[in-house]
Amino acid sequence: MSTPTTPPLQILEAAGQKQTNQRERFEKVRTLVHPDSASASAALAGEVAALIRERSASGKLTVLGLATGSTPVPFYRELIRLHRDEGLSFRDVITFNLDEYYGLARDHPESYYRFMSDQLFDHVDLSPDRIHLPDGTVPMEAVYDHCRDYEHRIAEAGGLDLQILGIGRTGHIGFNEPGSAIDSATRMITLDRVTRQDAAADFMGVANVPRSAITMGVGTILEAKRLVLMAWGANKAGIVREAVEGKVTDQVSASFLQTHPNATFLVDQAAASYLTRFRFPWLVGPVEWDAPMKKRAVVWMARKLEKPVLKLVDEDYNENGAEGLLASTSEAAYEVNIDIFNRVQHTITGWPGGKPGVDDSRRPERSQPFPKRVVVFSPEPTDAFIGMGGTLTRLREQGHEVRLVFQTSGNLRVADGAALNFARVVLEMAESSHSPEWESQTSYARSIVEAIDAKGEFGIDPDFVRKLKALILRGEARDAASVCRLRYHDSQFLDLPFYESGRYRRFRFETADAEGVRDVLADFQPHSVFATGDASDPSSPQAIAFRAFAEAWAMAYGAGFRNDCKVWLYRGRDRPLEAHEIDMAVPMSPDQLEEKTEALRRFMSLNEDDLNAAARNRENAAVYDSLGMAEYEGIESFKLWKAP
Ligand code: F6R
Repeated sequence: MSTPTTPPLQILEAAGQKQTNQRERFEKVRTLVHPDSASASAALAGEVAALIRERSASGKLTVLGLATGSTPVPFYRELIRLHRDEGLSFRDVITFNLDEYYGLARDHPESYYRFMSDQLFDHVDLSPDRIHLPDGTVPMEAVYDHCRDYEHRIAEAGGLDLQILGIGRTGHIGFNEPGSAIDSATRMITLDRVTRQDAAADFMGVANVPRSAITMGVGTILEAKRLVLMAWGANKAGIVREAVEGKVTDQVSASFLQTHPNATFLVDQAAASYLTRFRFPWLVGPVEWDAPMKKRAVVWMARKLEKPVLKLVDEDYNENGAEGLLASTSEAAYEVNIDIFNRVQHTITGWPGGKPGVDDSRRPERSQPFPKRVVVFSPEPTDAFIGMGGTLTRLREQGHEVRLVFQTSGNLRVADGAALNFARVVLEMAESSHSPEWESQTSYARSIVEAIDAKGEFGIDPDFVRKLKALILRGEARDAASVCRLRYHDSQFLDLPFYESGRYRRFRFETADAEGVRDVLADFQPHSVFATGDASDPSSPQAIAFRAFAEAWAMAYGAGFRNDCKVWLYRGRDRPLEAHEIDMAVPMSPDQLEEKTEALRRFMSLNEDDLNAAARNRENAAVYDSLGMAEYEGIESFKLWKAP
């Protein structure tokens, strides 16, 4: 391995985040946390721009290692902006990408070559002969030589000056799945099941995701002079913690960055949320023991010691790093326990819209007005059912006026087979009717079949096919809503424009998206709102749909309804809320949980993880049970949103 040297400019490190010794006890690699992916990406783009300019000024080329996936998209957009608006030139840049799916040609819509062209190469002045990606089409017997050649080319270019990385949920960097050795070189690898699952939406179903890829090895990556690994969103929080705080292991390739002298993790707050300094900050340094901090610490301690809250004793506090909590109050453990027990207890309610005619001072939702106008936003049609199917049912049963707003059509999730089935039904009906009146339907159905044939395996559907798929999903969504007791007119479909013009990992927020949501709020004047996506990967439909809501909420500044409206956040596909984060816990009986699953079954396109929603509700209930609360079959959980 060459000796990594410090790059000339360390703009990220100049961002003023000093690593305290206490923190270093936990974080074994430099980790910078930004409020969001946009500011983190801008900082990194600034560092890269400075590196390129500096090297160009002294007549040197810059060798950049690049990554694909959702994570670097905002970073590439910022590089393009710097090129367009601030004259950053890529003439003196050579690039090497981490990986390519095996079996995909360069012009395949999901090839990494195509991705890089769309996201960066076509928009800057990089010379095509300085762009390198592994070739996914080399015959099997030539793969070994191709990989060796890739390594030679990197060495010939002088080695990577800076390698950009994302991290998969398996902890992979590049496609170095668990088991990859620290000195592994560029090679063919079989993709992990989780990785293929995560790529399923891009390929319209997990069955279409390639099984293997060519990837730079861990050794190849570690030879770069500098490494920056980016991660966004709550779903990355667990693996980021393992890579940053866990032991160095080939089961988590990203943990090998701990061995590199110039590696930085660059994360947003959601991806950082499991780091000890945020999750258990009292273990890292002094904290202010306000009510949320006390709840966090006591719940954590009870979970760790596997004791109900009311059984914790003074020694437990002292021996588990929470001595400061007791010292900060004149209370003994016994009193703190009761206080926290009550707080958790008061989050539980079977009345998510408030219970009429009772004292509501200790209830999550107020009694009045009753009934309420409740808006539930579902970014993709399945999200609301996954995250709060049981609560939806309760809200309706308790007499509230519920409007279920499907923000995007979700048509990209619908398999070709569903559209083909529809077209074939029409064709058979036409055939059996023997009537000329069916002519236009017949030609429509034929055009569907032809369009799907013509696009090949993973091509992009023309608009009229997307429209049909959207309508198929609409039918399923209405069906699922009726399982939750909603009436036909309780559902509203917004078909937000960002989704209609996009593709997974490449969506872009537009002001029109927020305007669509603003109109719903203005029209319905809700007393309570349920939304999700606040902690999602920023390029996911969930995050963009949440942004549309947050901006719509800001647009409604001064509107009367905002003075008396709570906004509840739920989690659909993202990691569930932790017990200390929960402000409202809605319990479910075995029958209610079964009914929620029944609603989910109405969707043809759900994957294994989605269908596991009930298991997550059971886990929530088990956590509450272990804290000493009543034992329920399942719990759906919510957090209050505080508008910025
Ligand atoms: C991409 C790559 C992968 C991704 C990782 C995260 O070239 O090598 O390691 O960085 O799978 O993917 P996203 O960013 O889509 O979450």
